[in-house]
Amino acid sequence: MLVSAKEMLTKAKAGHYAVGQFNINNLEWTKSILLTAQELQSPVILGVSEGAGKYMTGYKTVAAMVKAMIEELNITVPVALHLDHGSYEGAKKCIEAGFSSIMFDGSHYPIEENIAKTKELVETCNQLGLSLEAEVGAIGGEEDGVIGKGECADPQECKAIADLGVTMLAAGIGNIHGKYPDNWEGLSFETLDAIQKLTGDMPLVLHGGTGIPEDMIKKAISLGVAKINVNTECQLSFAAATRKYIEEGKDLQGKGFDPRKLLAPGAEAIKATVKEKMELFGSVGKA
Ligand code: 13P
Repeated sequence: MLVSAKEMLTKAKAGHYAVGQFNINNLEWTKSILLTAQELQSPVILGVSEGAGKYMTGYKTVAAMVKAMIEELNITVPVALHLDHGSYEGAKKCIEAGFSSIMFDGSHYPIEENIAKTKELVETCNQLGLSLEAEVGAIGGEEDGVIGKGECADPQECKAIADLGVTMLAAGIGNIHGKYPDNWEGLSFETLDAIQKLTGDMPLVLHGGTGIPEDMIKKAISLGVAKINVNTECQLSFAAATRKYIEEGKDLQGKGFDPRKLLAPGAEAIKATVKEKMELFGSVGKA
């Protein structure tokens, strides 16, 4: 069964750890993440971007796959199925398709419009018992063709959105999606601190988890981050393991071309990455 992310994030914020959101792209990704969460007894959030939803043939397919997999694999830890960087229309579609958590990313709208649209979705999600993530201050980098500038959010605007009753809030603090450039200035803890002071108990979300140094992750958690999104890092470890398999000529030996064999090293690599992150975020044993 899927659960809303509210309870797991409230506990994480109070307990000073973070729950990982790992983005899924297909069956292998989903299976690796769910099995790792179960093994480590960690709550987990499966993130689905609009692009990934389209790739997997639609949100209904994704919701059906994830729900069935939880049952077939006997997964008992809390799992939220979450739309990542949703548009207003995407949010409505995922609500209909049976997702348990929604992100509405209105950060590219003028703040008044972001507030109005987020407010409307707060009401819908509250009625249905779904968690809702809102965003203030675009996260930099490129994700599924969406390019953000990488800003530091205005703490007052964060408060205005938090006060609408969203479950969790993503705020730009100099973070970006994808690999960080060599000249990256690091996270703005000053901004994060100011946001947490104004938003109190609200679980804060750190996007762009790939490549953020461990000490910065820990400091961000100490300043109220309770959800950390990781996507690119799983893609990189999957690709590296698959490359190794092929470069070693294993696909040419015996039945090494069988997709179940060909994709196995990548699937194992994702498990290792997810484990490493769950340990770093402190969510192990918190299910
Ligand atoms: P990365 O791809 O940089 O890990 O970011 C993931 C993310 O923030 C998804 O919303």
